Amino acid sequence: MSSPLPQAPFSTAPVDPSAPILLFDSGVGGLTVLGELRKVLPQAPVIYAADMAGLPYGTKTEAQVTARVAGLLGRMTERFAPRLVCIACNTASTIALGMVREVLEVPVVGTVPAIKPAAAMTRSGVIGLLGTQATIRQAYVDRLEHEFAGDKRLLRYGGPGLVEAAEAKLRGERVDPAAVIRAAEALRAMPGGENIDTVVLACTHFPLLEDELAEAFGPGVRFVHGAEGIARRIAHLTEGQEYARQQPDRALFTGPGEFPGAYGEALARYGLPEGGRF
Ligand code: DGL
Repeated sequence: MSSPLPQAPFSTAPVDPSAPILLFDSGVGGLTVLGELRKVLPQAPVIYAADMAGLPYGTKTEAQVTARVAGLLGRMTERFAPRLVCIACNTASTIALGMVREVLEVPVVGTVPAIKPAAAMTRSGVIGLLGTQATIRQAYVDRLEHEFAGDKRLLRYGGPGLVEAAEAKLRGERVDPAAVIRAAEALRAMPGGENIDTVVLACTHFPLLEDELAEAFGPGVRFVHGAEGIARRIAHLTEGQEYARQQPDRALFTGPGEFPGAYGEALARYGLPEGGRF
């Protein structure tokens, strides 16, 4: 797959000031992007959409992820007329960003593994990449490695259980350290793994577990992820636009079940006091 091309320029007509920015993830991982977006664009109306019915994406096939993401974002874009869509999910972005950009008529910002900054940070030349099982096998990641870390060693691990642990943490549950410890041990056990000094958190859920991961990897390892850069990119693409929030920001979950359930407190912390089912 070749690199998704930047989208063609969009109309320069004034944007409706109440038009939201739509952030999309399979679950609550994209809140790590929203947290950074709040710092640079606190005035921006936001809809946060979580495809809870499809979670986790990391164990699905490319065809399944593409179908869900393109279908849902198509319907959501029609319903909410966002000024910009952010796929706040590495799995969905590395698989479906190109396709989504083909079908949506609004700017789409993706979230891809922060290999470039990690390559600039590492001293030992050995970088760990922690993503979902689907993300680490993507050609998109091969390309980023080739382009930015060709002279480094990039060790990849698709950590089962980490997404579920992050979700549990945001529900206020105790995090079972087993998945986190297993991820650190697996990367350390790869050839050269003892020299890892930088770990790319290539899933938007994983910054939610940074404390647990730091403890499991021990001192001397730095973590890097893309949330801040993505927030800056959104600010850049919407520069000069006006904002007028006409209703509280909302979270939308797909699937059955009570909303917001145990996520209520975490959603409120991210400025999402309202929401419902999509
Ligand atoms: N948050 C998503 C990511 O950044 C993945 C979670 C999942 O497996 O659904 O990759």
